[in-house]
Amino acid sequence: MVLPIVHYGNKILREKARPVPVVTPALVVLAQDMIETMHRAKGVGLAAEQIGRLESVCVIDVPAECEEDDETRAFNAAVPMPLVMFNPVVISTEGSQCGKEGCLSFPNLGGTVTRPGVVTCQYLDVQGIPQIVTVKGFLARAVMHETDHLNGVLYVDHLGAVEKLSMAGKLKRMAQKNGGNL
Ligand code: NI
Repeated sequence: MVLPIVHYGNKILREKARPVPVVTPALVVLAQDMIETMHRAKGVGLAAEQIGRLESVCVIDVPAECEEDDETRAFNAAVPMPLVMFNPVVISTEGSQCGKEGCLSFPNLGGTVTRPGVVTCQYLDVQGIPQIVTVKGFLARAVMHETDHLNGVLYVDHLGAVEKLSMAGKLKRMAQKNGGNL
């Protein structure tokens, strides 16, 4: 089922998700709905707050062609896609990368964000089994972006001062349309 996506300005985007005590069948259905919603919206990631929920879960589906080079594609190949992560926690990061980022909660907007180059994340999979993945490149960017969402942090918080200033008007107008929360 495709779910409505919450846009910037809605206060739930600033709330912290709550870890799920156990991965129930209802939560697996929620994750499936989130994948459908993400694909329909042509996004590569979606977090619970973006569909108005506060369970700690995010979904990611980064196609291999989004990665810049073969080495990164090979490195990420072991990760099952779409990736469903319950209670994800980033446990280590390495290096840095700078690139364009967007978000389904900010339609028609994008900005430049510096992220770690390599990210290691622990989570529970759809069977409730603890997993650890290490990812690189655009997939690492997606994992940081989605785990940020679950902590109430948005990509615009990471913009440089100049870009932040140039986008301020648009962001303010978008927020005002959706509840007024920055
Ligand atoms: Ni987002």
